[in-house]
Amino acid sequence: MSLWYQLRLAMPSRFEELELVDSLMEALLGHVGCDEDERSNLALSVREALANAVLHGNRLAADKSVSLEVTLEMTLEAGELRIQVADEGAGFDPDAVPDPLAPENLLKPTGRGILLMRNFMDEVTFEFPNSGGTLVFMRKSLAARTPP
Ligand SMILES: Nc1ncnc2c1ncn2[C@@H]1O[C@H](COP(=O)(O)OP(=O)(O)OP(=O)(O)O)[C@@H](O)[C@H]1O
Ligand SMILES: [Mg+2]
Repeated sequence: MSLWYQLRLAMPSRFEELELVDSLMEALLGHVGCDEDERSNLALSVREALANAVLHGNRLAADKSVSLEVTLEMTLEAGELRIQVADEGAGFDPDAVPDPLAPENLLKPTGRGILLMRNFMDEVTFEFPNSGGTLVFMRKSLAARTPP
């Protein structure tokens, strides 16, 4: 048996929306049987990507939107979660982002979002389409489990 879910959401560039997405992620992942640790790590990765899109990408501009696409495939053998987050910002150079593990950055309270995403997801990539903005792709293999 194989199950396939897709969630697509466009939202205003406001931190208030992060809570809504957290609830949606928790509900979807809980529905397919992910345990609490996996649910919170996956929801956190999505939250960090969205927070970056809202703050650094769209700079909280009311007229710009952030979009999220979540694709989840489940079979009895394996599962996979794919996330895409897009904003309408100016993009950035991922290679120029300061290393949060460098000694001079260890005490800084910010700069760890991408590190968290990379640590938990199997793959994190950034794309910068000619039309503008940042596209973040993340992928995570999930353990096989009995589908709902
Ligand atoms: N969507 C984006 N658009 C523009 N710049 C971005 C985007 N995502 C990340 N960045 C840049 O990459 C940097 C590192 O992002 P990261 O999430 O690791 O840390 P942070 O957002 O600065 O702090 P934290 O996430 O820990 O609160 C950001 O400071 C920003 O300069
Ligand atoms: Mg961040």
